[in-house]
Amino acid sequence: MSDTQAPKGTTDIFGKEAEKWRFVEDVIHELCEDFGVQEIRTPMFEYTEVFKRGVGDTTDIVQKEMFTFLDNGGRSITLRPEGTAGVARAYIENGMASMTQPLKLYYIMPNFRAEKPQRGRSRQHTQFGLEYFGAPTPAADAEVISVAYELYRRLNIENYEVRINSIGGHDSRVKFNSVLTAFIQTNLQRFCPLCQERVAKNPLRVLDCKVESCQRLLEDAPSVLDHLTPEDAEHFEGVKRNLDAMGIPYIVDSRIVRGLDYYTRTVFEFFCKDLGEMAGGGGGRYDNLIESFGGVTTPAVGFGLGIERLLMILEAQKKITIKPKRSIFYVGGIGDDGSLKAQQIAYSLREAGIRTEGDLTARSPKAQMKYANNIGAAYSMLIGSDEIASNKCTVKNMETGEQTSVTLDAIVDYAVGLKRAEINPVY
Ligand code: HAM
Repeated sequence: MSDTQAPKGTTDIFGKEAEKWRFVEDVIHELCEDFGVQEIRTPMFEYTEVFKRGVGDTTDIVQKEMFTFLDNGGRSITLRPEGTAGVARAYIENGMASMTQPLKLYYIMPNFRAEKPQRGRSRQHTQFGLEYFGAPTPAADAEVISVAYELYRRLNIENYEVRINSIGGHDSRVKFNSVLTAFIQTNLQRFCPLCQERVAKNPLRVLDCKVESCQRLLEDAPSVLDHLTPEDAEHFEGVKRNLDAMGIPYIVDSRIVRGLDYYTRTVFEFFCKDLGEMAGGGGGRYDNLIESFGGVTTPAVGFGLGIERLLMILEAQKKITIKPKRSIFYVGGIGDDGSLKAQQIAYSLREAGIRTEGDLTARSPKAQMKYANNIGAAYSMLIGSDEIASNKCTVKNMETGEQTSVTLDAIVDYAVGLKRAEINPVY
């Protein structure tokens, strides 16, 4: 691959593709407004320590997927591999704990992970993320899940499942880790090398292994749900009660453990048939993260949902509706004076909120009409010396061929009138 090509695992988004992104983003912005969630934008890079401490040293992300480099001062910088750690850093740094709580934040931001590129897995991906700070109740977990669920509903997505689990807090985890480790140890040699490595550092992650032989060995593995403290178990029951109250269907799946270290208690993932085994999105509670960054203990819960994967689902299910475009006025110019006048009229039309195109390549009148046709102009006019002398021009309805003579000073009013009269195309 040449050095002047796009790096592996990245994509250029333009034309229809960019419109599809806008469609999804618009739905997300409106959705978050309905839930009273505010937007946050954090830097695309942070000091590496933010992700090491936030995401966790034993995760795939930190161990092998981060784009890390030294800045000119010799400090280690990492391109954001996920949104939560940076948002948690921003929460502390901007004193957000003293704002009205809970603080509900969302973002649509690109992330960078040096993964092996494949369908649905790229080196730059964009997440719609949600982070709720300062809400300890199960109702908060359920509301966060309901935001993702509502997004799927608004996008008319079908054939998907919400899988939820609880991995408990510290005490539950200590208890379960020893039970799970003992179970894995009995068959250790038959697990894949990665699992053998993981069992010592983070046995929970073994449950997440995609290797089939490991999955078979895990069929009789103990369930984390049988080892929760009464408080953690009650929290999980509360999440389920809240989901039931909202009529949100879910599946309890004790194998959902997530690949990041900060989670406590509730974890969940969205799966859709069109993505196969790949999760469409996931999240959970992370009550210790703010504290681990040096902030005051703050309960938190959130999710991240890949927009590329969302678009894959929408594409597969043919659920993308691009907003109809406003119709186009084409104002062409002939000769220097005509072109100047056309430029002036085009600008006045745009000032009046009318979508207008003109000639920027000094084309012949015939070529201009062809161009107007190619871009799908609804109305066109050409301004030359005759039009300037008579202070009139002919506006052509490109669909019907109907021609109307309009004085140059009245073109804006005329166009505005058409805009009001028109029903379709929509303005
Ligand atoms: P995550 O599971 O690593 O969680 O990523 C969330 C979602 O981002 C995935 O389910 C997937 O849709 C998308 N995604 C991740 N990596 C890629 C990739 N390489 N290519 C395409 N899409 C990808 C997080 O990042 C957490 N920060 C989520 C969270 C927020 N938890 C609490 N708050």
